[in-house]
Amino acid sequence: MATLSSSLKDRLSTPLKIGSFEVNSRVLQSPLSGVTDLVFRRLVRRYAPNSMMYTEMVNATGLHYVKQLPKIMEIDPNERPISIQLFDCRPDFLAEAAQMAVQEGADTIDINMGCPVNKITKNGGGSSLLRQPEVAEAIVRSVVQAVSVPVTVKTRIGWSDKEINAVEFAQRMEAAGAQMLTLHGRTRAQGYNGSARWEWIAKVKEVLSIPVIANGDIFSVDAAVRCLEQTGADGVMCSRGTLGYPFLVGEVDHFLKTGELLTPPNPIERLECARDHLQMLWEYKGERGIRQARKHMTWYAKGFLYAAELRGKLAVIENLDQGLVLIDQAIERLRQQGWQPEEDEMLQLVEV
Ligand SMILES: Cc1cc2nc3c(=O)[nH]c(=O)nc-3n(C[C@H](O)[C@H](O)[C@H](O)COP(=O)(O)O)c2cc1C
Repeated sequence: MATLSSSLKDRLSTPLKIGSFEVNSRVLQSPLSGVTDLVFRRLVRRYAPNSMMYTEMVNATGLHYVKQLPKIMEIDPNERPISIQLFDCRPDFLAEAAQMAVQEGADTIDINMGCPVNKITKNGGGSSLLRQPEVAEAIVRSVVQAVSVPVTVKTRIGWSDKEINAVEFAQRMEAAGAQMLTLHGRTRAQGYNGSARWEWIAKVKEVLSIPVIANGDIFSVDAAVRCLEQTGADGVMCSRGTLGYPFLVGEVDHFLKTGELLTPPNPIERLECARDHLQMLWEYKGERGIRQARKHMTWYAKGFLYAAELRGKLAVIENLDQGLVLIDQAIERLRQQGWQPEEDEMLQLVEV
C-alpha cells in the first residue's frame, strides 16, 4: 500500500511552476488522441479540479492550410489549466499554430515529440524528432518566439535501445527555451510495450533545471508514489490508467496532498460515470459522439460478474437510448445482486 514520506510530501507541496505559469497540482492528465476531448477532460476535472490537462494532438500543417479550428482544439472557457498539444516538423507552421492555440485560450503550448505512429513519424513529427534534435531545437525556438505563454515538450527516452538520447535531447530542449519536459520512459521502438524505464527519467531530472514530469505505467496511486520516489521528478502524468477511469488523476493528487487514499469507486459508481460520459458525448458531438463512446463504455464496464457480456453490448450501441438502457439495467442488477469479481478475476483468486 502507498505511503507518503514527509520528504516527498514537502518536495511536492508547492505549486508546479511552468515558466511564469503556476499549477496547484503535481499530477497531470496526459494527452490521448481519440480520448482527451473536452468531455473527457470535464470528467477528469470533477475529481482533479487543479490539474493540468492537454488536448489531443493537433496537426500544425492542417491548421496552416485549413485555417479553421478543428473540434479537438476547442477548449471550454472555464477549463483551466489547459495546454494545447501540437505536432509537426515545421517550425514556422508550429509557431503559427501556437498563436492560434493561445487565442483559443491555451495556458501553455506543448509540442509532441514522442508519438510513435508511422503516419506521424514518416512526416518528420512526433518521436522522429528524437533523431533530428536540431529540428526539434528550431521548433522550440520558433514557438517560444511566437507566443508569450510557456512552451513545453513531451518526448520519449529515445528512438530505440541503440539510440537512447534522452539526456542530451532534454538538455537541448531546455537550452532552446522549453519550460517543462514530460518524459515517457519508453523508446519509440517499444511503442506501448514492456515497462517504462523510470531510471532514464531520473537521469534527465538530474541534469535539467526546468520541471521534469514522469510518464509511463502510472496505473495507481502506489505506482505514482514509487515513480516520484525513484525519479525525483517534479510531477507525474497519468495516461492509459485513466481509460474508463477518470478518477485516477484526482486519486493521486489527493494522496500527494493529504497522504490519504480515497475509496475507489465501486462498479455502480463507475457505471454512473459512464452514463454521464455517454450523455455528454451525445450532447457535444451527436452521432459521432455515440460511435466514439463505444470504446469508452467498454473500458468502464469492468470488475463485476457479467461485465464481459455488458462490454459486448456496449461495443455496438447505435444511439444514446440504447446505451442508457444497457447501463441502467446493469446498475439495477448490481444494486439488487451486489457485485462479484469478473470470471477471469475469480479464476485468478482460485489459482492463488
Ligand atoms: C490511445 C493513445 C493515444 C495517445 N495520444 C497521445 C497524444 O495525442 N499525444 C501524446 O503526447 N501522447 C499520446 N499518447 C501517449 C500517452 O500520452 C503516454 O505518453 C503513454 O501512454 C505512456 O503512458 P502510460 O504507460 O501510463 O500509458 C497516447 C497513448 C495512447 C495509448
